[in-house]
Amino acid sequence: MTRVTVTVDGTQYTDDVEPRMLLVQYLRETLGKVGTVIGCDTSSCGACTVHLDGQSVKSCSVLAVQADGREVTTIEGLATDGQLHPVQQAFHENHALQCGFCTPGMIMQSVALLKDNPNPSEADVRHNLEGNLCRCTGYQNIVKAVQAAAGGAQ
Ligand code: FES
Ligand code: FES
Repeated sequence: MTRVTVTVDGTQYTDDVEPRMLLVQYLRETLGKVGTVIGCDTSSCGACTVHLDGQSVKSCSVLAVQADGREVTTIEGLATDGQLHPVQQAFHENHALQCGFCTPGMIMQSVALLKDNPNPSEADVRHNLEGNLCRCTGYQNIVKAVQAAAGGAQ
């Protein structure tokens, strides 16, 4: 076992983990942060996307030990004082989800995009979300939501 100290959604945790444990497993199984979901386990779907020191990563492709000493933000850490993050609000208002399984990853990826590019074109949004798969929506309303959130998401 290896000891890790990770700050997740503003709270610091110290735990002993197996060196092979994935970050997504640590978040879900050790910390109970089940808002971050596993859609494939093969780095293909993006459902497990979180921010690691502000950069979006697929948490099924990162080991928990690699997060030692670092800061993780999950979908559960986006809202502040009961207020949805502007990207969450925009997904809600633009009907950008159906089953919702892809939504945590879509939103985390979109938040990272808007930090880098506050005014993305439709092509920019589609390009940025190409690692996040949705089986339900056809993507149209997801793109609309991200563009609607642009400008208000910093
Ligand atoms: Fe991580 Fe699909 S569960 S990319
Ligand atoms: Fe169902 Fe995207 S809303 S997978």
